[in-house]
Amino acid sequence: MAHRGLVVLAPLLAAATNPLVPHTGMADPHVHVFNGTLYMYSTHDLIEQGASGCCGGDWWIWTAPYPGGPWTNVSSQGLPAWTPESLKETNSLWATDAAEHKGRYYWYVSIGGKQIAVFEADAPTGPWRDPLGDFLLANGSSLSPPTNIRDPGVLRDDDGRHYIVFGACDGANQPDDACYYAAELHDDMISYEPPRHLSVKGVLGHFGYGKADDKPFLHKRGDLYYLSWGCFYATASEVFGPYQYKGCIIEADLVEEAFMVGNQTAERFSHHIYYDRHSSFVEHLGQWYFYSNDYSHSDAPTGGFRDTVAAFVHYRDDGTIAPVEITAAGVGPRDARAPLPAEQYHRVDGARTTQGGSTTGFVVGDVADGAAVAYRVDRASLGGSVALNLTFANGGECAGAATLAVAGTPLATCALAPTGAWDMYATVACGAALGAAALAAPASADGAVDVAVSFAGCGGAAFAKLDTLTFA
Ligand SMILES: *[C@@H]1O[C@H](CO)[C@@H](O)[C@H](O)[C@H]1NC(C)=O
Ligand SMILES: *[C@@H]1O[C@H](CO)[C@@H](O)[C@H](O)[C@H]1NC(C)=O
Ligand SMILES: *[C@@H]1O[C@H](CO)[C@@H](O)[C@H](O)[C@H]1NC(C)=O
Ligand SMILES: *[C@@H]1O[C@H](CO)[C@@H](O)[C@H](O)[C@H]1NC(C)=O
Ligand SMILES: *[C@@H]1O[C@H](CO)[C@@H](O)[C@H](O)[C@H]1NC(C)=O
Repeated sequence: MAHRGLVVLAPLLAAATNPLVPHTGMADPHVHVFNGTLYMYSTHDLIEQGASGCCGGDWWIWTAPYPGGPWTNVSSQGLPAWTPESLKETNSLWATDAAEHKGRYYWYVSIGGKQIAVFEADAPTGPWRDPLGDFLLANGSSLSPPTNIRDPGVLRDDDGRHYIVFGACDGANQPDDACYYAAELHDDMISYEPPRHLSVKGVLGHFGYGKADDKPFLHKRGDLYYLSWGCFYATASEVFGPYQYKGCIIEADLVEEAFMVGNQTAERFSHHIYYDRHSSFVEHLGQWYFYSNDYSHSDAPTGGFRDTVAAFVHYRDDGTIAPVEITAAGVGPRDARAPLPAEQYHRVDGARTTQGGSTTGFVVGDVADGAAVAYRVDRASLGGSVALNLTFANGGECAGAATLAVAGTPLATCALAPTGAWDMYATVACGAALGAAALAAPASADGAVDVAVSFAGCGGAAFAKLDTLTFA
């Protein structure tokens, strides 16, 4: 690791952002971007719940200015009165998800493990009304195959239609498939077409081959639909499938030591790092994020008291998802003392993550005139000045320009000259010892400054794949 030659090397400067809000029991994180702002709809584990911390506390809503946080509790107290106190006592506030449609917000909640209700509001944080006075979905045993109606996930498709996914097989009664269903929601968002079973070929989960789980989530990227359950996922070209199992996005190699948990010698998919990763995927400013349950820092690990962690998600060119890094730094401010993989951006315009490069397997590709990519960089890790080295490939014949800006102030411009081929990488120094003035600006709530690289030149032709940023 190439670290900056600081005179006094402080302890690792970039603040840990994982777990996101430890010691609170923030769990089952469903994150959405509503009107440009990040919101999380979570359950709330209780230590005093004993054998299962799950599902005894109120549901909580959180918001954050940046994906890594800081996350603030903005829960509304205005839950509909029919959510009985007695349900809380019997562990009944299970996982939830939310959706926006025509300026109204809909919060789908599991009431225990076998039914789903819906609340409605004019704002993402409520106050909430109960428009039905009854469950939205129930009676899963009458479906074929039968399912437990819980763990809603709502997908908004590109054409504006919404689908709610839910379900879980009975533990002992797993068919060689999953017991997930999806139903198209009507325009009112509180009624639906008959639920359709989602077939998942080759399904695998924490319980082994042929077994999915609960916690289904649907997301869509490009033309591909992703059905996930924890770290496991399948893809399909149609929302109702059939889905094909693709893999698990957590690999022990990419889980930082402090986030390893459980019996390390257990059989691969029964290992605790794969267990109960109730999660959601969300796109924010062109980057994809994975928010997931985590047991590694639990105050009561054997009691089901969970935390939430976040990770960047990178899709391979064939649509499959590369294993994610579970680290303390998470998706928060990047540490300028280590080389920064270009694809770990917090904002991108006119370019996208593609496979390639010399390090992580991903680059910011298709970089052309007008593209820009930006990072939240830990203010303290930058020291008193900024000089940036860019490692890139340019397989074309035209040199484009990259301009470095810190906190909105342009500091230096450098040429990204042809390197001979799209897989030949070169490093260019972009400015030197600049930026004291820009760095005098106070850091944001997350302790970071915005470091942006914008690109110009070469008409419309792509002129760079950006691999690594190294702060010199
Ligand atoms: C969306 O956000 C903008 C800017 O923060 C705000 O002015 C507007 O009222 C919001 N709209 C809704 C529907 O919440
Ligand atoms: C979140 O907010 C709710 C409602 O105000 C409150 O009851 C709860 O204690 C808060 N939880 C945390 C962890 O701040
Ligand atoms: C569940 O079944 C009962 C009995 O048939 C019925 O009264 C109720 O409306 C059903 N609920 C839902 C949400 O389908
Ligand atoms: C860990 O897993 C291995 C393999 O399944 C098993 O033999 C062993 O008993 C487990 N150890 C503990 C402490 O659970
Ligand atoms: C930055 O690039 C220059 C010129 O290519 C090189 O001499 C220098 O060692 C690089 N610094 C770092 C930190 O990579």
